[in-house]
Amino acid sequence: DLKVQLDNASGKISPHMWGIFFEDINLGADGGIYAELVKNRSFEFDHPMMGWKRLENVPEGTFLIVNDGRRKGNARSLKIHKPTDFKTGLQNEGFRGMGVKKGDGYEFSLLYRQASPGIRIKVELLNEQDQVIGTAALPLSQGASWQTGSVTFTSSETSPKGKLNIWFEGAGDVEVDMLSLFPQDTWKNRPKGLRKDMVQILADMEPDFVRFPGGCIVEGRDLATRFQWKKTVGPIEERELIINRWNTEFSHRLTPDYFQTFGLGFYEYFLLSEDIGAEPVPILNCGMACQFNTGEVVPLDELDEYIQDALDLIEFANGDTHTPWGKLRAEMGHPAPFNLKMLGVGNENWGPQYIERLAIFQKILQEKHPEIQIIASSGTDPNGERFDYLDEKLRDMKVDIIDEHYYRPPAWFLSGADRYDDYDRNGPKIFAGEYASHTTRPQGPGRSTWEAALSEAAFLTGLERNGDVVTMASYAPLFGHVDGWQWSPDLIWVDNLNVYGTPSYHVQKLYSLNKGTDIIPVKLGDQNVVGQDSLYASAVYDANTKELIVKFVNYNEQSVEANFQLDTKKKMKGNATKITLANADRNVVNSLEEPLRIKPQTEQVNYKGKAIKDTFPPYSFTVIKIPVQ
Ligand code: AHR
Repeated sequence: DLKVQLDNASGKISPHMWGIFFEDINLGADGGIYAELVKNRSFEFDHPMMGWKRLENVPEGTFLIVNDGRRKGNARSLKIHKPTDFKTGLQNEGFRGMGVKKGDGYEFSLLYRQASPGIRIKVELLNEQDQVIGTAALPLSQGASWQTGSVTFTSSETSPKGKLNIWFEGAGDVEVDMLSLFPQDTWKNRPKGLRKDMVQILADMEPDFVRFPGGCIVEGRDLATRFQWKKTVGPIEERELIINRWNTEFSHRLTPDYFQTFGLGFYEYFLLSEDIGAEPVPILNCGMACQFNTGEVVPLDELDEYIQDALDLIEFANGDTHTPWGKLRAEMGHPAPFNLKMLGVGNENWGPQYIERLAIFQKILQEKHPEIQIIASSGTDPNGERFDYLDEKLRDMKVDIIDEHYYRPPAWFLSGADRYDDYDRNGPKIFAGEYASHTTRPQGPGRSTWEAALSEAAFLTGLERNGDVVTMASYAPLFGHVDGWQWSPDLIWVDNLNVYGTPSYHVQKLYSLNKGTDIIPVKLGDQNVVGQDSLYASAVYDANTKELIVKFVNYNEQSVEANFQLDTKKKMKGNATKITLANADRNVVNSLEEPLRIKPQTEQVNYKGKAIKDTFPPYSFTVIKIPVQ
């Protein structure tokens, strides 16, 4: 018998317990949630014509890349020189093709200037067989300065791998830039916005926070390619593109064309967080590049710029609209503050260099912004254990929150269900900032199997039981594109038109949707249930809905009978809702073909008295919700 000590709550669950880790890895942003369909729209990739091909044999000198160093962040444009009216155009291949849908509207837009009239544009959307499935004409006006042109059209077919032809008709000279194609049907119908299905699957998790922008891209391969938030806000055409740190590196599918255009920049990350009811949790570079790469560090006497970035970010998020950065936020469309409360300094940084830099950040941030909680990196130990020296230092420094990462095999997650049971309650809180069970680690890429997810479910009982000290948790990475990933497993997989959640997605979603407010001890004798007979359990009470919520993992190949005795003066009122994720075969996965092979099954159950007595299937994770009074 298991005792559920409902009248003896051991603490409060953190109000921002279950969240999302977002990084532009695996085509998560460009080529993913950022709905732009044109690759290398501003000719700023290393090779300016990457993603583009000429449509006809044309005289030399017809196309010329112009580099105008005066144009902040977007120096290159393309000049088309057509002294006579011959046929010419360009084709863009999209990121991995362009996913387009029958009946949906698409907006083609560009920046251009032509001193004298002459050139008109015709665009054609093609399917995989090169048949035209949408077309539009766009006359260009004359003028000495850059102007915007746009036109919309409808696709007559669904195609997962479309392409875009841009024909330059007539004769004359024109310069073009920011050649862009977006679906009109975006998340909240925002022009040039985000892919609706990808945001929806996040919103469905009801995440408490969004951590952004990563991950290793925060650090960059070197400091020159670190993530600098200031270069990701303001007019999109001025945002300074950089090579993605995941470009070819660690790549199982080479991605030499992986750049960060920052169409999804910090403003958009804040907005996304707000849209899905999540707290924004930005992580900033601490003056150190990725220690798995160059490990470059900025000298301490040059750290000011990095610290200023943090101070200015707080102003951008929360500042009055009369402050310079608050004003920019308002100009971008959001006069109200974004209500930033937490800020990460460094991602997977360690060593004395990290501590020195963190200490300077901490001193200044605490002086100027005591209201902001600082999340410190705990580095990452190859065995998934804490770096003792670092842990000690961070505790001595009294940082608010320590960000721990674990990519470990299922056995590690199973045996770690008690990781935080005796954790010091008086020191920093824990952010399980990146977790994922890797079935094949360290041999190679992992698959998002039910085995991986179930071992996470077991581990998460331990996070929930310690939800007063482990105040945040997020799986990583978030998205993987089936045609362009560098890291696997991932929480959610997509192609150009579809999206599905892995078993791990359903596990974290069940925790998030059934978070509760108070931690209720579940005991076997006087022990927590942390793997005895391969069983794991935790429970919460939800003061808002007045429900007891029990989570139970049966990690056995046989079904088990369990009897949860409710130790309480309260009574169970009415039916319980039982939600089960189960499969006797731990190797099963969800896929584009079978996106819901592992999915929650919900039923109503009438338990009697003050006991939850039930049979739980082999390899299952069950959530039971009972109204109590
Ligand atoms: O999630 C993938 C990577 O794993 C992250 O970028 C990094 O923080 C960690 O090493």
